[in-house]
Amino acid sequence: MRTGKRCRVYRQRLAAGRVKAYHGGPALARSTFPFLKMTTLKCVDDFRFHLGDKELVPIMIGGMGVDISTVELALEAARLGGIGHISDAMVPTVIDRHLKTRYVKDKLKLYKSNVTNLDDKSTVKFHLGELEEATRLHVRRAMDAKQGSGLVFINCMEKLTMNAPRETLKVRLNAALDAGIDGITLAAGLHLSSFGMIEAHPRFRDARLGIIVSSLRALQLFLRKSSRSGRLPDYVVVEGPLAGGHLGFGMDWAEYDLARIVAEIRTWLATEQIDIPLIPAGGIFTGSDATAFLEAGAAAVQVATRFTVTRECGLPDPIKQEYYKASESDIVVNGISPTGYPMRMIKSSPAIGAGTHPNCESFGYILDANGRCSYIDAYNREVAAHPGEKKVKVYDKTCLCTHMRDFDLWTCGHTTYRLKDTSVKQADGDYALLSAEHVFHDYQYSRNGQIQLPG
Ligand SMILES: Cc1cc2nc3c(=O)[nH]c(=O)nc-3n(C[C@H](O)[C@H](O)[C@H](O)COP(=O)(O)O)c2cc1C
Repeated sequence: MRTGKRCRVYRQRLAAGRVKAYHGGPALARSTFPFLKMTTLKCVDDFRFHLGDKELVPIMIGGMGVDISTVELALEAARLGGIGHISDAMVPTVIDRHLKTRYVKDKLKLYKSNVTNLDDKSTVKFHLGELEEATRLHVRRAMDAKQGSGLVFINCMEKLTMNAPRETLKVRLNAALDAGIDGITLAAGLHLSSFGMIEAHPRFRDARLGIIVSSLRALQLFLRKSSRSGRLPDYVVVEGPLAGGHLGFGMDWAEYDLARIVAEIRTWLATEQIDIPLIPAGGIFTGSDATAFLEAGAAAVQVATRFTVTRECGLPDPIKQEYYKASESDIVVNGISPTGYPMRMIKSSPAIGAGTHPNCESFGYILDANGRCSYIDAYNREVAAHPGEKKVKVYDKTCLCTHMRDFDLWTCGHTTYRLKDTSVKQADGDYALLSAEHVFHDYQYSRNGQIQLPG
């Protein structure tokens, strides 16, 4: 369907009452970003993201580990002309679930005798050949099925230290390039050596490489270090304090503002005469929020929360209802992730206080270079404090691997409490799930802060 026709369909739906306008109508459209000028004239579809030889719809669906941004979700973004992300978090586990492989079982079998050893996990290593194979299988699942003019990228977390940070990261990055991924977004960490790990790869110059930062300083550090490879990132995602997952801020996150950080980075890049497309992320909830950033000079936007309630999202359906039903006070930022980064989540997440026995022999993705994880320390402390008790509670840290794998750490963006405004409540009290296409098009075509309801 051509753009003009889509806009006409949108206007017809608006007239039929299938579109929700916030706060009494277009003139009072609600924005999360008071520092940005809201336009009443344009929509996202009036802009294009030029990335190398590609002309894209300027909508990028962010990576959501572990398998929350599924292959299916990423493929929809690509089919619709934008960019979708798969995630490289815990890929062997994810691939076991989809392809019935046995990476986790085999690893547990190999290290079973160490399960009760809660003092030393340094011997529990990933098999690099298997990690490479699993990453290739994961990426190929996406790339073999890709249709449309858009792109599929992989979100690569440096903080997945896997008891051998350099070796495992190098394998994951190179395997993703081998398997034909369109691009890599370097996330969760400073990634000061990541370019160096792939500069010998034949696709180093033609694959699209980007980085996520939350401050000008982080970007400056990265650019200084990566300049040795003679290559700039192709895009920079500027992630603000309202995003889901781990945050690049301290517990003072609320004092920061995405629009201001983007403006600061843009000014510095202009002064240095460095031309890199900027992609704001975090709290961009409506097409008008996105348009305001595009009008202010952003190349595209990265969004995620709105897609957590789509059928293509990997969260189990009952958990999608938890996202819909969450109120603003249900959403917290806390320090329970053993990565050391603050993380946003729904406060009724079963992972909080669970006191799970560490599962490093099966998983072990957060073990540092010395085989340590702050969750094990917290768990050991509680076991020592409660002798004889079969099950302990641990509130200050969580077993991130187990709970992300089981979808019971409900990480989410700040705007999750607004998801209920994007759908309709059904007779049983549940909200209707959306299609990724519906949400993508709502971002692409909506104006005046309006949100199109399903139907
Ligand atoms: C459920 C969820 C999981 C996420 N997981 C990751 C992740 O694994 N890695 C990452 O870099 N960003 C992660 N993010 C951040 C998104 O990729 C994205 O940048 C951000 O959430 C966009 O803001 P929005 O959710 O307000 O649209 C996650 C976000 C959500 C909502």
